Amino acid sequence: MGRPVATLFVLCFISVTACSLSEQATRGRLLAGVDATPPAAGGAVAVPIYLSSQGLYVANFTIGTPPQPVSAVVDLTSELVWTQCTPCQPCFEQDLPLFDPTKSSTFRGLPCGSHLCESIPESSRNCTSDVCIYEAPTKAGDTGGMAGTDTFAIGAAKETLGFGCVVMTDKRLKTIGGPSGIVGLGRTPWSLVTQMNLTAFSYCLAGKSSGALFLGATAKQLAGGKNSSTPFVIKTSAGSSDNGSNPYYMVKLAGIKAGGAPLQAASSSGSTVLLDTVSRASYLADGAYKALKKALTAAVGVQPVASPPKPYDLCFPKAVAGDAPELVFTFDGGAALTVPPANYLLASGNGTVCLTIGSSASLNLTGELEGASILGSLQQENVHVLFDLKEETLSFKPADCSSLN
Ligand SMILES: *[C@@H]1O[C@H](CO)[C@@H](O)[C@H](O)[C@H]1NC(C)=O
Ligand SMILES: *[C@@H]1O[C@H](CO)[C@@H](O)[C@H](O)[C@H]1NC(C)=O
Ligand SMILES: *[C@@H]1O[C@H](CO)[C@@H](O)[C@H](O)[C@H]1NC(C)=O
Ligand SMILES: *[C@@H]1O[C@H](CO)[C@@H](O)[C@H](O)[C@H]1NC(C)=O
Ligand SMILES: *[C@@H]1O[C@H](CO)[C@@H](O)[C@H](O)[C@H]1NC(C)=O
Ligand SMILES: *[C@@H]1O[C@H](CO)[C@@H](O)[C@H](O)[C@H]1NC(C)=O
Ligand SMILES: *[C@@H]1O[C@H](CO)[C@@H](O)[C@H](O)[C@H]1NC(C)=O
Repeated sequence: MGRPVATLFVLCFISVTACSLSEQATRGRLLAGVDATPPAAGGAVAVPIYLSSQGLYVANFTIGTPPQPVSAVVDLTSELVWTQCTPCQPCFEQDLPLFDPTKSSTFRGLPCGSHLCESIPESSRNCTSDVCIYEAPTKAGDTGGMAGTDTFAIGAAKETLGFGCVVMTDKRLKTIGGPSGIVGLGRTPWSLVTQMNLTAFSYCLAGKSSGALFLGATAKQLAGGKNSSTPFVIKTSAGSSDNGSNPYYMVKLAGIKAGGAPLQAASSSGSTVLLDTVSRASYLADGAYKALKKALTAAVGVQPVASPPKPYDLCFPKAVAGDAPELVFTFDGGAALTVPPANYLLASGNGTVCLTIGSSASLNLTGELEGASILGSLQQENVHVLFDLKEETLSFKPADCSSLN
């Protein structure tokens, strides 16, 4: 679900192990030890984020001295921050000029001898020159570049951060709709979150309006009065060499209610849910998905559209959308996410609305994500989603996200 290029991306970002800078490289200490000044005590940084034409949430910031503007997709499941740099060949199209490291007096390529570079597996790095060049096999093809550090200005924060200065992307990837790269927020040493030493962050996604990403302790005050939260769970696949450095934010689903009535509990309870900001749609375990379809069809009381337009599986005449129930996802510990019909039924032309929740069986997830459900960005809109990294909990608070800036 979502538009074609975004879909390509979703596949890539969902399967991070196959996509990021190669599993071992990203699990090493690529950017550890980088000189990052923590934000001023108590300070939170508000970064406006907006939905791109391809359904991706994007943040604008600058890199370098003097600052060069960058716009990058905000991705909870990515482990790195990267942007396309000159001289890039081939590159996907982006709205802004490429970042030019030679025009920044503060840019530093990571030297080859550094332990950071050495932490990249030999098969993924090339140290024939004196800078650290890496290559990242992805499902969308290879991405390669130079690992470096520079000054970032993101919201009101100014930090020296490590990032990937990418000079080669897969030629089949024509564009990601304007942005120039990715801001990874994964729970790994080299993500934005870890490099900024954040104890909390949150976001409030506002659909077509401008929402915000909050970095730092005040994210908690904004989510104020949080009453119930759910603990993050770390899932490692059997035999994996993962040492607890899983990038994903995952929680445990306790159940789903449609219009107050629980869906067949057995099919959804206990399932692990991955929080995602790149996929628009959510994906449930197949049993829960089938129960949801049944409950929705019963609630609206009319036959679904006979042949739903791709990629949808369940559509109804728009006129009955008002009869669709509110969905409530409940999680271990009592946290609850309320999803109104507007956040799961999308107008798809021809006077129909279609379900933007699918079956995770269609994604063929493997490794740590095998059997997981995915909570997409559409279902998280107009909710303040707080990641408390000190308490290791997630919480939700309904909000008008377009009024937070
Ligand atoms: C972010 O940058 C893009 C590309 O330069 C620009 O089109 C857009 O208006 C900016 N958005 C915001 C919210 O600043
Ligand atoms: C490493 O980079 C050099 C150019 O800097 C190139 O000639 C060489 O083929 C590369 N080696 C590998 C294994 O990619
Ligand atoms: C990160 O923050 C914690 C407290 O929130 C502090 O104790 C620690 O020293 C900080 N680490 C760095 C590298 O700044
Ligand atoms: C918070 O949780 C407690 C105990 O579960 C409940 O009694 C109280 O009403 C809740 N408060 C709010 C504001 O939801
Ligand atoms: C995981 O930890 C073991 C020992 O605790 C260590 O030998 C191994 O190298 C670690 N693997 C990674 C990928 O860090
Ligand atoms: C809209 O309806 C027409 C006529 O029923 C049909 O030919 C067309 O494929 C439909 N388009 C979509 C997107 O469902
Ligand atoms: C999942 O696997 C099935 C059967 O092997 C295949 O037809 C389908 O294209 C795969 N889906 C994805 C998203 O890879």
